[in-house]
Amino acid sequence: MSGALPKNGWRENFTWGVSTSAYQIEGAAHEDGRGPSIWDIRAITKDKVYKNESGETACDHYHRYPEDIALMKGLGVDAYRFSLAWPRILPTGRTFVNEAGLDFYDRLIDSLLEAGIEPWACLYHWDLPQGLHNLGGWAQRDCAGWFADYATLCARRYGDRVKKWITFNEFSVFTLFGYAIDWAAPGITDRATHLRAIHHVNLAHGKGVDVLRSHVKGAVIGAVHNRQAVWPEKETEADRRAAALLNEHWNLAFPDPQILGHYPPLIARDMEPYIQGGDMAQICRPVDFFGLNHYGPIFAKEDLNSTWGFGWGDSPPDSPDHGIGWPVWPDAFRDELLELHRRYKLPVVVTENGCAGDDAVNAEGRVEDPRRIKYLELYTAKMAEALDAGVDVRGYFVWSLLDAFEWGSGYGPRFGLVHVDHTTQTRTPKSSYDWYKALIQSTRPA
Ligand code: NOJ
Repeated sequence: MSGALPKNGWRENFTWGVSTSAYQIEGAAHEDGRGPSIWDIRAITKDKVYKNESGETACDHYHRYPEDIALMKGLGVDAYRFSLAWPRILPTGRTFVNEAGLDFYDRLIDSLLEAGIEPWACLYHWDLPQGLHNLGGWAQRDCAGWFADYATLCARRYGDRVKKWITFNEFSVFTLFGYAIDWAAPGITDRATHLRAIHHVNLAHGKGVDVLRSHVKGAVIGAVHNRQAVWPEKETEADRRAAALLNEHWNLAFPDPQILGHYPPLIARDMEPYIQGGDMAQICRPVDFFGLNHYGPIFAKEDLNSTWGFGWGDSPPDSPDHGIGWPVWPDAFRDELLELHRRYKLPVVVTENGCAGDDAVNAEGRVEDPRRIKYLELYTAKMAEALDAGVDVRGYFVWSLLDAFEWGSGYGPRFGLVHVDHTTQTRTPKSSYDWYKALIQSTRPA
């Protein structure tokens, strides 16, 4: 196997896993009392999602989770990162508890444990109950308290069996795309609303950490941050300025206050009107690991028509393509791991890394995805370099187990190790599934 991982540096208890999220795979959007989320509403709003697709049925994981767990068992993963759907548990977001929704995650968690796979539960992967959005959503300070109540319910219900907890997934993506750029739900483009959302989500995270700590004995708690180098598209003063501001929004606006206790310099003054006494201490609560989602660097350019004056630039024409226009840049992954270690001094878990494609089942009934294998080889080899350089990487999760609903891109980009035919719901493991299985095996103690 080319690009084989060096043996040194691996911890005996290194965690190999796969990640998914509720809205992207569960389907069963109207079953057993689930309420609508802001993504259900966005998906039925014309032209917000590619081909006007939605997560209404997705991978039908709600009914097919036993088959999906069997696929994970076959892969040999130690752990599975999934998200709990707030609107399945609290259909309007607060007050009324939906027992049938809670039961689903009981079944899922128990089946994972029976299969010897550790559940890593994430409380929020972008599906805010629409009922809470109608009350102001993340722009409303009370939302942090609503989140803490929901977190308490989950911690009490599942904390006896789930010990690995994640408060939020990719804070800056859902706030920036949802409140400043109309690329995600709820599709607002307003600076003040965006700033309020940033602060209230940070507060919700801190409150969530406290709740999990007090209700779950032996909890290991973290948050998942997207982080990738932001480079100017062109070496001009304007693009450099755009990159510096996007870098703060993208990479620092959440981990800095949560781990270092302050907002980064370029946005600190903007945040001031929303910060009340005691907030920064409430946001900065001790966590046990830094969850990193990383795919490749991004390029920024000046865009004076946008909410913040920055836009997404093109990557250099000669950079290898991920499959959906994202550049493949393994060194930038290693450098990110080194930088995280230096800046935050926390153990790191790579909670997402992966590659998109337009994979199809061939005449022999197989799905060959050599480009994904190459990508994963290159990136895991760079992770091994970071480990050798002393970065405390504790685990690695591939995004994703299944081809899933990819938000605004609908079912276009396929990220799965397992191909899903979304009409018949047939699952077909791809050649990358076999590759990952062999990789995991090769790092097990003999
Ligand atoms: C980021 C998100 O956490 C996930 O929902 C998304 O599907 C993948 N990365 C790929 O874009």
